[in-house]
Amino acid sequence: MKKVNLAIVGATGMVGRTFLEVLEKRDFPIENFYVFASARSAGKTITFRGKEYVIEELTEQSFDRPIDIALFSAGGSISQKFAPIAASKGCVVVDNSSAWRMDPNVPLVVPEVNPEDIKKHKGIIANPNCSTIQAVVALKPIHEYYTIKRIIYTTYQAVSGAGMGGWADLEEGLKGNPPKKFPHPIANNCLPHIDSFLDNGYTKEEMKMVEETRKIFHAPDLKITATTVRVPVFNGHSEAINVEVEKPFELEELKGIFKKAPGIIVQDDPQNDIYPLATETTGKDEVFVGRIRRDESVENGINLWVVADNIRKGAATNTIQIAELLVQEMA
Ligand code: A2P
Repeated sequence: MKKVNLAIVGATGMVGRTFLEVLEKRDFPIENFYVFASARSAGKTITFRGKEYVIEELTEQSFDRPIDIALFSAGGSISQKFAPIAASKGCVVVDNSSAWRMDPNVPLVVPEVNPEDIKKHKGIIANPNCSTIQAVVALKPIHEYYTIKRIIYTTYQAVSGAGMGGWADLEEGLKGNPPKKFPHPIANNCLPHIDSFLDNGYTKEEMKMVEETRKIFHAPDLKITATTVRVPVFNGHSEAINVEVEKPFELEELKGIFKKAPGIIVQDDPQNDIYPLATETTGKDEVFVGRIRRDESVENGINLWVVADNIRKGAATNTIQIAELLVQEMA
């Protein structure tokens, strides 16, 4: 495979550090490697594949050198400003923030679901929201075989999804200290509030799940609703997903389809207490699916429990899988 010049923007953050771990694990073909963060981190070093790299401050001149691909995870406003600068210099940005996801000129990609969309990029490719990624990986085989009519999402999301600040709030909250990141204590609580509230009464996180799912499936009219909840779990998002499909299905056939689907591990033996658990998905790249059962209240309905490491498959791994597709294209 062709070796590329790769940059990480936000290398010191929760997702940025996981980029480094996943890149090491997956043997990504790198020629030159650059790491960027804010002025606060400039001059510090990080070790990658046994070599030390000096962190540079991200500036408008950062991309004035041949960089093929940049993985961005430094927040929406940084992506908003710097992704177009990088793209204008010939670099392809794979962006983990929400800044570009709904832009019609920017593909929103989950490699197990819509890999062909990367071909349409104009310099920026967006990585979906963590809760959307694991949901659409699980829903893809259902949609392919039975055609989805309606989706109801309910999420149980870990604090790592809110970055270092979210993690610290749970850690400190368990010691009795007040929250700094969340509006209420997260220890011993469930907060039905992720990202800010919109005029329609939903949170941005909920509407991200609705809109991003439609974009990824190329189904602008798909009926979807969501309730997203922050729970006192350090890492790993869990989701209860209810789906209505057009075609009749057999449960055993559906389970067989899941077992063959890319990126999915089925854990579904409730008699032996086997179902996906957040604690067991940490550090894994797959999406775990269990509690696969018929929704008996409608004609063709399915209930699922879907769990994944939100920092891995929900962020770093998916971004790197997109970058791997780009490298294949460049070869
Ligand atoms: P830094 O550590 O120098 O502040 P998280 O969401 O886990 O807190 O991570 C945020 C990431 O975004 C960090 O790597 C952080 O770097 C980076 N970041 C924040 N502000 C900027 C900025 N102005 N320019 C470049 N990177 C930034």
